[in-house]
Amino acid sequence: MKTLESRIGALKTKFDESLAGATDAGALEELRNEFLSRKRGRVTLLFEELKSLPPEEKRSFGRLVNELKAHVQKNLAVSLKGSIRIKSGAKGKLTVIEDDADRDQVDLTLPGETLPWGAPHPVMLFLEEIERIFETMGFSVAEGPEIETDYYNFEALNFPPHHPARDDWDTLYLGENLLLRTHTSPMQVRVMEKHKPPIRIIVPGKVYRREAIDPTHLPMFYQVEGLLVDEGVTFAHLKGTLDLFLKRLLGDKIGTRFRPSFFPFTEPSAEVDISCLICSGRDQACPVCGGTGWKELLGAGMINPQVLKNVNIDPERYSGWAFGLGIERAAMFCYQIADMRTFYENDLRFTRQFFLK
Ligand code: DAH
Repeated sequence: MKTLESRIGALKTKFDESLAGATDAGALEELRNEFLSRKRGRVTLLFEELKSLPPEEKRSFGRLVNELKAHVQKNLAVSLKGSIRIKSGAKGKLTVIEDDADRDQVDLTLPGETLPWGAPHPVMLFLEEIERIFETMGFSVAEGPEIETDYYNFEALNFPPHHPARDDWDTLYLGENLLLRTHTSPMQVRVMEKHKPPIRIIVPGKVYRREAIDPTHLPMFYQVEGLLVDEGVTFAHLKGTLDLFLKRLLGDKIGTRFRPSFFPFTEPSAEVDISCLICSGRDQACPVCGGTGWKELLGAGMINPQVLKNVNIDPERYSGWAFGLGIERAAMFCYQIADMRTFYENDLRFTRQFFLK
């Protein structure tokens, strides 16, 4: 025991002497390695030795080695702190960084480096709001493919081949049978093929049309489709739901109007208008409603029984309604944006405004 004690004492003296002689960061790092290195450090080797000692000696020898280790660590840290910075690297390894001479000459009054920051896109924020409103009414959210077949985009929705109604959707074809979906309505069919009623779902997503670009038309835009199928569903449910939805989205003052219309996949069909909040119909030259007092916002209707038959849902037992809403168009109205193209110009000054709202 005596010998062990004196060996440790001698090591301590050696460490103290070396420390006193260490003049730079390199020498301190070397000293650290000499004593604490994981594999060959003097302290590490003493711990190795410890393993082979009988239990009664292990205790007191262990305490001495631990004391030596603490002594080395503490004194190294104090010396390092004096002239250099210490970085604690992975696994606690000490990395010594030489202090740079200019450190004290940093001009703290200079502006800091600002990081570029983005914002969620206003169309996405608006969409989230729409989803939130429908979720509170018990609807789920689904998504579907943007590349569609003729069957889902048209045929199953009761557009026979070569039917003139197809011309209303300026379709971008990818071949005989494939196309970029012109609306989110194909998801009505996909959802009803997989799920049987009751169904309550909304489907947001991108749609594509062969459009000339102008302030209110883009070849790519977002729609959200709504679909509800159950027993005993009537047009009154459609009116009530859309009226509530539009009031929650755009404010309680908004009025809604249903006009008769035609879509092959709904019967009867309606075009839904909202009252113009800008001029309330009083300004003949209103840029938003053109003086009519109304702004067309979405298409809707009762699901055509033929569409239900196409997905093997019995139209004698079930009925349902659907709607399709152009998201940019609604967002333009809500935020008073005059030109749809501003959504996609990637001007952060535009995009950020909505996030901060
Ligand atoms: N898909 C139609 C369009 O893009 C909009 C639409 C009308 C969707 C009536 C519907 C609906 O679900 O019932 O113009």
